[in-house]
Amino acid sequence: MTIDRNLALELVRATEAAALACARLMGRGDEWEADQVAVSAMRAALNRIEMDATVVIGEGERDEAPMLFIGEKVGTGSGPKIELALDPLEGTTICATGGANALAVITAAEEGGFLHAPDTYMDKIATGPEARNVIDVDRSPTDNLKAIADAKFVPVEDLTVVILDRPRHEKLIEEVRKVGSRIKLIKDGDVSAAIATCSSDRPVDVLMGIGGAPEGVIAAAALRCLGGSIQGRLKPRNREEVDRARAMGIQDIDAKLALSDLAGGEVMFAATGVTRGDYLKGVRFRAQGALTQSVVMRSVTGTVRYIDAEHNFRRQEL
Ligand code: FBP
Repeated sequence: MTIDRNLALELVRATEAAALACARLMGRGDEWEADQVAVSAMRAALNRIEMDATVVIGEGERDEAPMLFIGEKVGTGSGPKIELALDPLEGTTICATGGANALAVITAAEEGGFLHAPDTYMDKIATGPEARNVIDVDRSPTDNLKAIADAKFVPVEDLTVVILDRPRHEKLIEEVRKVGSRIKLIKDGDVSAAIATCSSDRPVDVLMGIGGAPEGVIAAAALRCLGGSIQGRLKPRNREEVDRARAMGIQDIDAKLALSDLAGGEVMFAATGVTRGDYLKGVRFRAQGALTQSVVMRSVTGTVRYIDAEHNFRRQEL
Protein backbone atom coordinates (compact mmCIF):
# COMPACT_ATOMS: atom_id res chain seq x y z
CA MET A 1 0.00 0.00 0.00
CA THR A 2 1.21 3.51 -0.65
CA ILE A 3 0.05 6.46 1.36
CA ASP A 4 -1.60 9.17 -0.75
CA ARG A 5 1.22 11.57 -1.54
CA ASN A 6 -0.99 14.59 -0.94
CA LEU A 7 -1.25 13.64 2.71
CA ALA A 8 2.23 15.00 3.32
CA LEU A 9 1.07 18.41 2.11
CA GLU A 10 -2.00 18.21 4.32
CA LEU A 11 0.11 17.42 7.37
CA VAL A 12 2.04 20.63 6.93
CA ARG A 13 -1.09 22.65 7.71
CA ALA A 14 -1.11 20.99 11.11
CA THR A 15 2.57 21.72 11.79
CA GLU A 16 2.05 25.32 10.67
CA ALA A 17 -0.94 25.68 13.00
CA ALA A 18 1.06 24.33 15.95
CA ALA A 19 4.06 26.54 15.19
CA LEU A 20 1.94 29.67 14.80
CA ALA A 21 0.20 28.98 18.10
CA CYS A 22 3.26 28.38 20.27
CA ALA A 23 5.55 30.92 18.61
CA ARG A 24 3.37 33.64 20.17
CA LEU A 25 4.58 32.41 23.54
CA MET A 26 8.28 32.44 22.65
CA GLY A 27 10.46 33.59 25.53
CA ARG A 28 7.60 33.78 28.00
CA GLY A 29 9.19 31.17 30.22
CA ASP A 30 6.10 28.97 30.28
CA GLU A 31 6.98 25.64 28.72
CA TRP A 32 3.70 24.00 29.67
CA GLU A 33 1.54 26.71 28.13
CA ALA A 34 3.61 26.81 24.93
CA ASP A 35 3.24 23.04 24.59
CA GLN A 36 -0.50 23.10 25.30
CA VAL A 37 -1.34 25.70 22.65
CA ALA A 38 0.76 23.80 20.10
CA VAL A 39 -0.96 20.52 20.98
CA SER A 40 -4.49 21.87 20.70
CA ALA A 41 -3.80 23.73 17.43
CA MET A 42 -2.18 20.63 15.90
CA ARG A 43 -4.96 18.36 17.02
CA ALA A 44 -7.69 20.61 15.59
CA ALA A 45 -5.86 20.77 12.26
CA LEU A 46 -5.26 17.00 12.17
CA ASN A 47 -8.92 16.30 12.77
CA ARG A 48 -9.79 18.19 9.58
CA ILE A 49 -7.62 15.86 7.44
CA GLU A 50 -9.21 12.94 5.65
CA MET A 51 -7.37 10.02 7.23
CA ASP A 52 -7.88 7.25 9.72
CA ALA A 53 -4.81 7.92 11.85
CA THR A 54 -3.61 6.66 15.21
CA VAL A 55 -1.07 8.52 17.31
CA VAL A 56 1.69 6.06 18.25
CA ILE A 57 4.16 8.65 19.50
CA GLY A 58 2.59 11.74 20.96
CA GLU A 59 2.23 13.67 24.16
CA GLY A 60 2.38 10.60 26.38
CA GLU A 61 0.07 7.90 27.59
CA ARG A 62 -3.66 8.48 27.89
CA ASP A 63 -3.63 8.99 31.65
CA GLU A 64 -0.97 11.71 31.47
CA ALA A 65 -1.90 13.53 28.26
CA PRO A 66 -5.38 14.93 27.61
CA MET A 67 -4.72 15.39 23.89
CA LEU A 68 -2.68 13.64 21.21
CA PHE A 69 -2.05 10.79 23.63
CA ILE A 70 -0.68 7.45 22.46
CA GLY A 71 -3.54 5.50 20.91
CA GLU A 72 -5.66 8.57 20.15
CA LYS A 73 -7.47 8.46 16.82
CA VAL A 74 -7.19 11.60 14.73
CA GLY A 75 -8.45 12.63 11.31
CA THR A 76 -11.93 12.35 9.86
CA GLY A 77 -11.87 8.55 10.22
CA SER A 78 -12.12 7.87 6.49
CA GLY A 79 -9.18 7.68 4.09
CA PRO A 80 -5.84 5.96 4.60
CA LYS A 81 -5.14 4.00 7.78
CA ILE A 82 -1.86 5.33 9.09
CA GLU A 83 0.25 5.81 12.20
CA LEU A 84 1.52 9.19 13.37
CA ALA A 85 4.59 9.99 15.44
CA LEU A 86 4.39 13.65 16.32
CA ASP A 87 5.68 16.40 18.54
CA PRO A 88 3.66 19.64 18.40
CA LEU A 89 6.56 21.46 20.06
CA GLU A 90 9.93 19.72 19.88
CA GLY A 91 12.02 21.90 22.17
CA THR A 92 9.60 23.26 24.76
CA THR A 93 12.43 24.90 26.70
CA ILE A 94 13.85 26.35 23.50
CA CYS A 95 10.54 28.05 22.77
CA ALA A 96 10.07 29.19 26.36
CA THR A 97 13.51 30.79 26.34
CA GLY A 98 13.56 32.06 22.75
CA GLY A 99 16.44 29.78 21.73
CA ALA A 100 17.12 28.17 18.35
CA ASN A 101 15.75 25.10 16.57
CA ALA A 102 12.31 24.52 18.11
CA LEU A 103 10.06 22.68 15.64
CA ALA A 104 6.49 21.49 15.22
CA VAL A 105 6.74 17.99 13.71
CA ILE A 106 4.48 15.25 12.35
CA THR A 107 5.63 12.03 10.74
CA ALA A 108 3.38 9.41 9.19
CA ALA A 109 3.90 5.74 8.35
CA GLU A 110 1.90 2.75 7.27
CA GLU A 111 0.55 0.66 10.14
CA GLY A 112 3.42 -1.01 12.00
CA GLY A 113 6.01 1.33 10.48
CA PHE A 114 7.14 3.07 13.67
CA LEU A 115 8.81 1.66 16.76
CA HIS A 116 6.27 2.30 19.48
CA ALA A 117 8.83 3.91 21.76
CA PRO A 118 7.86 4.85 25.28
CA ASP A 119 8.89 8.17 26.80
CA THR A 120 12.33 7.03 27.82
CA TYR A 121 15.87 7.68 26.59
CA MET A 122 17.76 6.34 23.60
CA ASP A 123 21.47 6.23 22.82
CA LYS A 124 21.73 7.53 19.25
CA ILE A 125 24.12 8.09 16.41
CA ALA A 126 22.85 9.87 13.31
CA THR A 127 24.56 11.07 10.17
CA GLY A 128 23.91 12.16 6.60
CA PRO A 129 24.00 10.19 3.31
CA GLU A 130 27.78 10.05 2.77
CA ALA A 131 28.47 8.16 5.99
CA ARG A 132 25.15 6.40 6.39
CA ASN A 133 26.64 2.92 6.01
CA VAL A 134 29.57 3.27 8.38
CA ILE A 135 28.00 4.31 11.69
CA ASP A 136 27.51 1.72 14.41
CA VAL A 137 26.06 2.53 17.81
CA ASP A 138 28.03 -0.42 19.22
CA ARG A 139 31.40 1.01 18.27
CA SER A 140 33.29 3.61 20.27
CA PRO A 141 32.88 7.30 19.41
CA THR A 142 36.52 7.25 18.28
CA ASP A 143 35.93 4.43 15.80
CA ASN A 144 32.73 6.00 14.51
CA LEU A 145 34.40 9.36 13.97
CA LYS A 146 37.30 7.78 12.08
CA ALA A 147 34.88 5.84 9.88
CA ILE A 148 32.75 8.93 9.19
CA ALA A 149 35.84 11.00 8.37
CA ASP A 150 37.02 8.33 5.90
CA ALA A 151 33.59 8.12 4.29
CA LYS A 152 33.51 11.88 3.89
CA PHE A 153 37.16 12.14 2.76
CA VAL A 154 37.95 14.72 5.46
CA PRO A 155 40.34 14.66 8.41
CA VAL A 156 38.65 13.69 11.66
CA GLU A 157 39.52 17.16 13.01
CA ASP A 158 37.17 18.70 10.43
CA LEU A 159 34.12 16.80 11.60
CA THR A 160 31.55 18.56 13.78
CA VAL A 161 29.78 16.43 16.35
CA VAL A 162 26.54 17.67 17.87
CA ILE A 163 25.88 16.54 21.44
CA LEU A 164 23.18 17.46 23.96
CA ASP A 165 24.85 19.44 26.74
CA ARG A 166 24.11 17.13 29.65
CA PRO A 167 26.26 15.80 32.53
CA ARG A 168 25.63 12.26 31.22
CA HIS A 169 27.74 13.15 28.18
CA GLU A 170 30.88 14.15 30.08
CA LYS A 171 32.83 11.04 28.98
CA LEU A 172 31.58 11.24 25.39
CA ILE A 173 32.64 14.89 25.12
CA GLU A 174 36.03 14.04 26.60
CA GLU A 175 36.56 11.27 24.06
CA VAL A 176 35.50 13.40 21.08
CA ARG A 177 37.87 16.17 22.23
CA LYS A 178 40.67 13.61 22.42
CA VAL A 179 39.98 12.50 18.86
CA GLY A 180 40.14 16.16 17.85
CA SER A 181 36.75 16.63 16.19
CA ARG A 182 34.84 19.86 16.66
CA ILE A 183 31.84 19.83 19.00
CA LYS A 184 28.59 21.72 18.95
CA LEU A 185 26.89 21.44 22.33
CA ILE A 186 23.15 22.04 22.22
CA LYS A 187 20.82 22.69 25.11
CA ASP A 188 17.83 20.94 23.51
CA GLY A 189 16.38 19.83 20.19
CA ASP A 190 18.11 16.71 18.92
CA VAL A 191 15.54 16.13 16.14
CA SER A 192 16.67 19.31 14.44
CA ALA A 193 20.30 18.33 15.08
CA ALA A 194 19.83 14.90 13.49
CA ILE A 195 18.25 16.48 10.41
CA ALA A 196 21.07 19.02 10.18
CA THR A 197 23.55 16.15 9.58
CA CYS A 198 21.93 15.79 6.13
CA SER A 199 22.19 19.46 5.25
CA SER A 200 24.39 20.16 2.21
CA ASP A 201 26.07 23.16 3.84
CA ARG A 202 27.29 20.85 6.62
CA PRO A 203 26.55 22.64 9.88
CA VAL A 204 27.18 19.30 11.62
CA ASP A 205 28.35 15.85 10.55
CA VAL A 206 27.05 13.54 13.25
CA LEU A 207 24.75 13.51 16.27
CA MET A 208 25.94 11.40 19.19
CA GLY A 209 24.68 10.66 22.67
CA ILE A 210 21.55 9.98 24.67
CA GLY A 211 18.31 11.86 24.03
CA GLY A 212 14.60 11.13 23.99
CA ALA A 213 13.48 7.82 22.45
CA PRO A 214 10.36 9.32 20.80
CA GLU A 215 12.61 11.97 19.24
CA GLY A 216 14.80 9.14 17.90
CA VAL A 217 11.83 7.71 16.00
CA ILE A 218 10.79 11.11 14.65
CA ALA A 219 14.36 11.85 13.53
CA ALA A 220 14.53 8.40 11.87
CA ALA A 221 11.53 9.28 9.68
CA ALA A 222 13.29 12.43 8.47
CA LEU A 223 16.57 10.60 7.89
CA ARG A 224 14.79 7.90 5.86
CA CYS A 225 13.52 10.63 3.53
CA LEU A 226 16.86 12.46 3.37
CA GLY A 227 19.00 9.37 2.79
CA GLY A 228 20.84 9.63 6.09
CA SER A 229 20.84 7.09 8.90
CA ILE A 230 20.36 6.75 12.64
CA GLN A 231 20.92 3.83 14.97
CA GLY A 232 19.79 3.63 18.53
CA ARG A 233 19.40 1.60 21.68
CA LEU A 234 16.82 2.24 24.37
CA LYS A 235 18.20 3.48 27.69
CA PRO A 236 15.38 3.10 30.19
CA ARG A 237 16.09 4.77 33.55
CA ASN A 238 14.18 2.36 35.74
CA ARG A 239 12.05 -0.74 35.94
CA GLU A 240 8.87 1.19 35.21
CA GLU A 241 10.25 2.40 31.87
CA VAL A 242 11.29 -1.16 30.99
CA ASP A 243 7.76 -2.36 31.76
CA ARG A 244 6.29 0.45 29.67
CA ALA A 245 8.46 -0.49 26.72
CA ARG A 246 7.38 -4.13 27.04
CA ALA A 247 3.73 -3.08 27.27
CA MET A 248 4.21 -1.17 24.03
CA GLY A 249 5.42 -4.32 22.29
CA ILE A 250 9.20 -4.03 22.62
CA GLN A 251 10.42 -7.45 23.72
CA ASP A 252 14.17 -6.99 23.56
CA ILE A 253 14.90 -3.76 25.42
CA ASP A 254 18.63 -3.96 24.68
CA ALA A 255 18.24 -4.55 20.96
CA LYS A 256 20.25 -2.42 18.59
CA LEU A 257 17.73 -0.43 16.58
CA ALA A 258 18.49 0.16 12.91
CA LEU A 259 16.94 2.91 10.83
CA SER A 260 14.13 0.70 9.54
CA ASP A 261 13.40 -0.65 13.05
CA LEU A 262 12.74 2.93 14.12
CA ALA A 263 10.82 4.04 11.03
CA GLY A 264 10.17 1.36 8.41
CA GLY A 265 8.10 1.12 5.23
CA GLU A 266 6.82 4.26 3.58
CA VAL A 267 7.16 7.36 5.73
CA MET A 268 6.37 11.05 5.43
CA PHE A 269 7.76 13.93 7.44
CA ALA A 270 6.44 17.47 7.88
CA ALA A 271 7.91 20.15 10.14
CA THR A 272 7.53 23.89 10.63
CA GLY A 273 10.12 26.07 12.35
CA VAL A 274 8.91 27.64 15.59
CA THR A 275 12.05 29.58 16.49
CA ARG A 276 14.97 30.47 14.18
CA GLY A 277 16.98 27.39 13.30
CA ASP A 278 19.85 25.81 11.37
CA TYR A 279 17.40 24.07 9.13
CA LEU A 280 14.18 26.11 9.09
CA LYS A 281 13.33 29.73 9.77
CA GLY A 282 11.10 30.37 12.76
CA VAL A 283 7.70 32.07 12.77
CA ARG A 284 7.93 35.80 11.99
CA PHE A 285 4.87 37.84 12.92
CA ARG A 286 3.90 40.92 10.97
CA ALA A 287 0.81 43.14 10.70
CA GLN A 288 -2.26 40.88 10.74
CA GLY A 289 -0.26 37.84 9.77
CA ALA A 290 2.89 35.76 9.98
CA LEU A 291 5.47 34.01 7.83
CA THR A 292 6.34 30.37 8.36
CA GLN A 293 8.86 28.00 6.81
CA SER A 294 8.20 24.28 6.62
CA VAL A 295 9.68 21.17 5.08
CA VAL A 296 7.75 18.21 3.70
CA MET A 297 9.44 14.98 2.65
CA ARG A 298 8.50 11.48 1.51
CA SER A 299 10.67 8.39 1.73
CA VAL A 300 9.30 6.83 -1.49
CA THR A 301 10.59 9.54 -3.79
CA GLY A 302 13.04 11.35 -1.54
CA THR A 303 11.47 14.64 -2.61
CA VAL A 304 12.14 17.44 -0.13
CA ARG A 305 9.88 20.48 -0.41
CA TYR A 306 10.38 23.72 1.46
CA ILE A 307 7.22 25.71 1.93
CA ASP A 308 7.36 29.42 2.73
CA ALA A 309 3.88 30.49 3.72
CA GLU A 310 2.38 33.91 4.31
CA HIS A 311 -0.53 33.66 6.72
CA ASN A 312 -3.14 36.36 6.68
CA PHE A 313 -4.95 36.34 10.02
CA ARG A 314 -7.74 38.58 8.75
CA ARG A 315 -8.85 36.06 6.16
CA GLN A 316 -7.84 32.70 7.54
CA GLU A 317 -9.32 30.46 10.12
CA LEU A 318 -6.29 29.12 11.96
P1 FBP B 1 10.97 18.45 24.71
O1 FBP B 1 10.50 19.23 23.54
O2 FBP B 1 10.05 17.33 25.05
O3 FBP B 1 11.26 19.36 25.85
O4 FBP B 1 12.34 17.73 24.27
C1 FBP B 1 13.49 18.47 24.05
C2 FBP B 1 14.71 17.57 24.03
O5 FBP B 1 15.87 18.38 24.03
C3 FBP B 1 14.80 16.59 22.87
O6 FBP B 1 15.18 17.19 21.65
C4 FBP B 1 15.77 15.58 23.39
O7 FBP B 1 15.70 14.35 22.72
C5 FBP B 1 15.37 15.47 24.85
O8 FBP B 1 14.74 16.72 25.18
C6 FBP B 1 16.50 15.22 25.79
O9 FBP B 1 16.00 14.96 27.07
P2 FBP B 1 16.59 15.63 28.41
O10 FBP B 1 16.27 17.11 28.35
O11 FBP B 1 15.84 14.95 29.50
O12 FBP B 1 18.04 15.37 28.43
